[in-house]
Amino acid sequence: MSETKRFIHATWQIMEALLETDKLEDALSGSLEIIVRTLDSEAGAIWLLDRKTDRLSPMFHIGPADISNITVENGTGIEGIVTKTGKSIMIADAADDPRFDGSVFDDSGLKTRTMICVPLNNVHDVIGCVQIVNKKDGGRYDEEELQLCERMAALAAITVDEKGLIVDLGEKKEVLAVLRNITKDYPSGDGMLQVLKGINLELYKNEFVVVLGESGCGKSTLMNIVGGMDAMTDGTLLVEGKDISHASDAELTAYRREKVGFVFQAYNLMPNLTALENVQLIAELVDHAMPAEEAIEKVRLTDRKDHFPAQLSGGQQQRVSIARAIVKRPALILADEPTAALDYNTGIEVLSVIEDIVRKDGASVMMVTHNSEIAKMADRIVKMRNGRIASIQKNHHPQHAEELVW
Ligand SMILES: Nc1ncnc2c1ncn2[C@@H]1O[C@H](COP(=O)(O)OP(=O)(O)O)[C@@H](O)[C@H]1O
Ligand SMILES: [Mg+2]
Repeated sequence: MSETKRFIHATWQIMEALLETDKLEDALSGSLEIIVRTLDSEAGAIWLLDRKTDRLSPMFHIGPADISNITVENGTGIEGIVTKTGKSIMIADAADDPRFDGSVFDDSGLKTRTMICVPLNNVHDVIGCVQIVNKKDGGRYDEEELQLCERMAALAAITVDEKGLIVDLGEKKEVLAVLRNITKDYPSGDGMLQVLKGINLELYKNEFVVVLGESGCGKSTLMNIVGGMDAMTDGTLLVEGKDISHASDAELTAYRREKVGFVFQAYNLMPNLTALENVQLIAELVDHAMPAEEAIEKVRLTDRKDHFPAQLSGGQQQRVSIARAIVKRPALILADEPTAALDYNTGIEVLSVIEDIVRKDGASVMMVTHNSEIAKMADRIVKMRNGRIASIQKNHHPQHAEELVW
């Protein structure tokens, strides 16, 4: 395809992305994905301005690092200047550009070589900016590519005006866990199969993160590493500031017991114990457990607490396993496809319980699913593709479980 054809094609795809969804965030992030792909770039972000704090934060980003928690003061840095002035900035070559102070992506370890940053407008004012960084082939961005970005931003503006967008960054999120360059290899035939290819991700306290991706992309592997059930090949995992990448087996056992609550697709309940006894069994393992009755109450099973697993429906059994996860008051709850074996209605009941433990009880949950509808509940959606994080999207307007349809 010629350059011009490629750009016309991209513009067309962007228009489709904007028209296809009535969720503004999805429309914007879909557009950025197309731009980053078309311009074969290393990273990209959509920064939105919070008027209350006059700071920008990335609503959606693609690239090797998790920049979710970074905020930039309006008027400072490349993103801030573009947002404040409403004028695009193109840095053809950062090495000899005096406007560039080299600090933009410093936290992420991504060194900017070349960059385009264009304002995102609605009718009256600038609401943020769109930024793309580093061509993969090592080349520089050019005027035509700048125009493509401006066209995308202008298209997006139409959608912004129709659908509105209010950004409230709230408090800066407290970091719970940091995953740095985590890889996982499995021996395969003569060589090695790399299942995780360098995962960089932060998890925050009282946050609901959904990891979304096709079957086989590495979601469960990632989850098991974060939960201390599987060893990484390389990389670093910090939980509450403590490095557990090189923990001994005994330390890992303690970590799993004290810090992590697990919910799997299979309920794994003890068949000869009642719902309440299944929860009590776990409560006895740790020092600061909540009373088992309280955990049962939180999953709305008080009237079934003396039933055995075989006397409970799939959804009810899954709620017992959620009670078992929360009774320990873990720092982090990991849920791997918890509704995959359930029908729609019981699936929603289970998700509604998970919603409660995040929104009412302040739990931190990382949930894996291949169902993109479920991602709408999340505070942040981490998309995985082929062992990598493809993108991270903040969801400023999470939906209730009852609102989901699939
Ligand atoms: N123990 C293992 N040995 C070899 N390959 C594995 C092992 N576990 C997982 N894999 C491979 O790793 C890839 C990712 O698996 P997984 O993390 O379970 O994906 P997901 O949960 O996204 O479906 C798959 O290709 C799978 O076959
Ligand atoms: Mg899986």
